[in-house]
Amino acid sequence: MGWNEAFTKSVEERSISIGIIGLGYVGLPTAIGFFDAGFTVWGVDISERTVSYINAQKNPTGDPEVEGLIPHASDPRWNITTKTQEAVPHCDVILVTVPTPITEDLKPDLSYVRNAGCDVFNAVERGSRTIVVLESTVYPGVTAQTWLPELEKRGLVNGVDVELAYCPERFNPGDPAHGVRQVARVVGCSSEEVGQDLVAMYRHLTSEDVRYVGKIEVAEASKVIENVQRDINIALVNELARIFPELDLDVEDVLDAASTKWNFHRYTPGVGVGGHCIPVDPYYMMQRAQDVGVPAELITAARAVNRTMPQHVAQVIEKILYTNHIPAGQGRVLFLGWSYKPGVGDPRETPAEPLAKALQSRNIHVSVWDPHLGEQDLPDFVQSVNPMYDEHTSDIAVLITAHQEFLNLDWEALGATMKAKRVYDGRRVLDLDRLASSGWETFAVGMPIRNSM
Ligand SMILES: NC(=O)c1ccc[n+]([C@@H]2O[C@H](COP(=O)([O-])OP(=O)(O)OC[C@H]3O[C@@H](n4cnc5c(N)ncnc54)[C@H](O)[C@@H]3O)[C@@H](O)[C@H]2O)c1
Repeated sequence: MGWNEAFTKSVEERSISIGIIGLGYVGLPTAIGFFDAGFTVWGVDISERTVSYINAQKNPTGDPEVEGLIPHASDPRWNITTKTQEAVPHCDVILVTVPTPITEDLKPDLSYVRNAGCDVFNAVERGSRTIVVLESTVYPGVTAQTWLPELEKRGLVNGVDVELAYCPERFNPGDPAHGVRQVARVVGCSSEEVGQDLVAMYRHLTSEDVRYVGKIEVAEASKVIENVQRDINIALVNELARIFPELDLDVEDVLDAASTKWNFHRYTPGVGVGGHCIPVDPYYMMQRAQDVGVPAELITAARAVNRTMPQHVAQVIEKILYTNHIPAGQGRVLFLGWSYKPGVGDPRETPAEPLAKALQSRNIHVSVWDPHLGEQDLPDFVQSVNPMYDEHTSDIAVLITAHQEFLNLDWEALGATMKAKRVYDGRRVLDLDRLASSGWETFAVGMPIRNSM
């Protein structure tokens, strides 16, 4: 039996072992998904905390989708360690799910991908054809540019000692309808045979479509443009949310009207985009475009709009306070939410942070109530509160995150803790008419300032 037939048979019999390097928001649910599908899993994370949490069946990320699902450390099919060299010799396939952040000067930081690859290549058995799949989001060319030189330095050969491939993760943490087991996958690999083997393997993970799309760079590019497209669409509606109030129009009224056309795609404006993907991935594409001398003008402009939304919102809030005769240095703002995403305690790249900084630079005090985050998750320059229990007096509540807790809030109780019943809907999710009829002064992103005194 050839290598390929043997691999396919082992996949069907679940007798292959799958290693996952990086057990964060992506890696942990992926590891659990393959374990649940019947495979033996070796999970590696350099963080001692993450490994000890997982080995104690505790959730290290707070992602509700893994709550209560972490297998018991005594299960022989579930092996979690901080040491890549311990895991790799047991594995037929290794999935690398490490961070791909940006540097301070907004350039791709590929150090995690490089380091994780080096750890794997140092431990791989020669001639084993261990399949090493990068799942992290990157620009087209990263897998080859970053890993092939490292293979060469070690005298390893792609296609002999390892088989490199790319399969981007697309799931949405905290969203049960789009978990790791429900999203379509694409596989890129220079060897179609190996690509098809991976298709067979991922088909056990997800109920959705899995397909081989050709070379690695096609799969890499497909992932990054998915997030670029979202950034551009959101930037357009955020730009409109800045223009229309100046024309005395509420952007949501305009969107309601435009959405009656069959091919209009509606997006909702907000205080900014956050998380590890949308505010980060476009910089990967911009870098690659620059490398080949093509200006990524639209992508760059969209990033600038979304990146400056918090400054725009800070200006509007300052104006609301000013028109309500609250002098500079005395304004107090209560943020409802800090996490970048509803239902999840994830503060990464949250637009709340630049918004809080912009308000503070205007001498406006910021306190934060986020039921999904603890005081330790918030930066020192904001005050963590629960206005329902703590003594608290704010001039305006600003909805940052559309957590269910805020959609179902007892607004009368909140209003009783404030100096004035004033709210700014930074996500356009509140019933502003109902709030106005119960005595709230209402403001929102994309809405003209109407009812200030
Ligand atoms: N979070 C999402 O919603 C999402 C969705 C799709 C794709 N992605 C992409 O997936 C990748 C991972 O994102 P994430 O959100 O899971 O990041 P994360 O920060 O939550 O997790 C990454 C984990 O990798 C570990 N790690 C770093 N270097 C390591 C090494 N050398 N060996 C072992 N472990 C190492 C870290 O300790 C961390 O626990 C990124 O490229 C991201 O863009 C993220």
